[in-house]
Amino acid sequence: MKITAILLAAGQGTRMKSSLPKVLHPIAGKPMIWHALQAIRHVTTEKPVVVVGHGAQEVTKYLDVLAQTVLQEPQLGTGHAVMQAEPLLKGITDLVVVCYSDMPLLRGETLGKLVETQKKNKGPISILTVVADDPRGFGRIIRTPDGSVESIVEEYVATAEQLQVKELNVGGYCFDANWLWEALHRIPKNPQKGEYYLTDIVELASKAGLPVQATVMDDLEETIGINTRVHLSEVEAAMRRRINQEHMLDGVTMMDPASIYIDVDIKIGRDTVLMPNTYLYGQIEIGEGNRIGPNTIIRDSKIGNRCKVLASVLESALLDDDVDIGPFARLRKGAHLGDHVHMGNFGEVKDSYLAEGVKMGHFSYIGNAQIGANTNIGAGTITCNYDGEKKYATEIGEDVFIGSDTMLVAPLKIGSGARTGAGSVVTKNVAEDTLVVGMPARVIRKLERKAKK
Ligand code: UD1
Ligand code: CA
Repeated sequence: MKITAILLAAGQGTRMKSSLPKVLHPIAGKPMIWHALQAIRHVTTEKPVVVVGHGAQEVTKYLDVLAQTVLQEPQLGTGHAVMQAEPLLKGITDLVVVCYSDMPLLRGETLGKLVETQKKNKGPISILTVVADDPRGFGRIIRTPDGSVESIVEEYVATAEQLQVKELNVGGYCFDANWLWEALHRIPKNPQKGEYYLTDIVELASKAGLPVQATVMDDLEETIGINTRVHLSEVEAAMRRRINQEHMLDGVTMMDPASIYIDVDIKIGRDTVLMPNTYLYGQIEIGEGNRIGPNTIIRDSKIGNRCKVLASVLESALLDDDVDIGPFARLRKGAHLGDHVHMGNFGEVKDSYLAEGVKMGHFSYIGNAQIGANTNIGAGTITCNYDGEKKYATEIGEDVFIGSDTMLVAPLKIGSGARTGAGSVVTKNVAEDTLVVGMPARVIRKLERKAKK
């Protein structure tokens, strides 16, 4: 049985008061509509049809290969929106699942239940409903005395009696396709707004004696639709709780999950501890046994195992194993810290590789550099990598000791085993096992390297 989903996303989202189309507002790092597409994947692998209208260009650009799009212009209501997909889907699908793209908390499993209900239904429609005390402006489900679904009444036209109804229309539908394509054209124009409401199709079925089934949901949170930024924040918080819970169940410790912000699709290994005020954004992979935070922001980075990251900011960085950084370290794009690297307070690393065991304790800037194993970078060391026009590379060997406050004027190579005196300004390459001092630094003597344990 072929199932295809239609996602409605043409509405203006006026109440968001935004120049960004509503469905592109991010939730846990992904546009609202991404979440809806995830849920749909649970019930069908067919490419969904997204009905676009307001902000069509931007939304279509974002969707790219994720969906086919069809333009609804002008936007004459949710029933009219579904009609736009008819030319694409008529005759090629058995069931049609329709949902709105502004309910990112709706789970795929719930859509699965809806589809199962419809598969057993002798009538042409099954809908998702929920029973709640706070109606949130949702349409009311009107049932006949024998309990079958008769119609959906929008809040603003409901009678006082209908307003008391606690069963609400969530906004998820599963239709028998052949019946849908025919019935859509019979939806009457709503006299108040001049629109064609998808919700009115329910009454068309029930009046014809065709049973409409409801899957009554029990998780109210899943049904939150976003119309304003207040709803957006509610959904963001709920999504975050959901993400954090999954990580905790997978073996991640969080002292205070309410203060931990993790985007969707991030991998975190067992026994990693996330301390309060930790933000994990974008594409991140974190191994096992790490301790991250408090007060840490990580974006698009990869972290190995048993690292400690305290009060630091990482962006497009790579930490191998047993790295210890912070407090107040900043790793920028292309920073790669090898095993057992220690980086202390007020350091910045960009486009550089610090090999195993490098120590960089305090106040340094390392950019466009390769640093060999077990080298010590003294406090206040700067790679002067930029002359105002171009960036230049610095290469430092193994077991080097860079004295405090050394300026390394790139391009520059410092051989293994070399030392620079405190405050030296190094403008020329330094040979292996050589001590340089002064400003600009000059050779003063040859060194004998001590064997390290
Ligand atoms: C809708 C339902 C209501 C339900 C509620 C749940 C209707 C008439 N009402 O109301 O019963 O309780 O959702 O959240 O369906 N859209 C289009 N084209 C249009 C109009 C809307 O694509 O011409 C899209 C919107 O982008 C949105 C979705 O349809 O994604 C729902 O529209 P919206 O205006 O938010 O409907 P509600 O008033 O919330
Ligand atoms: Ca809505």
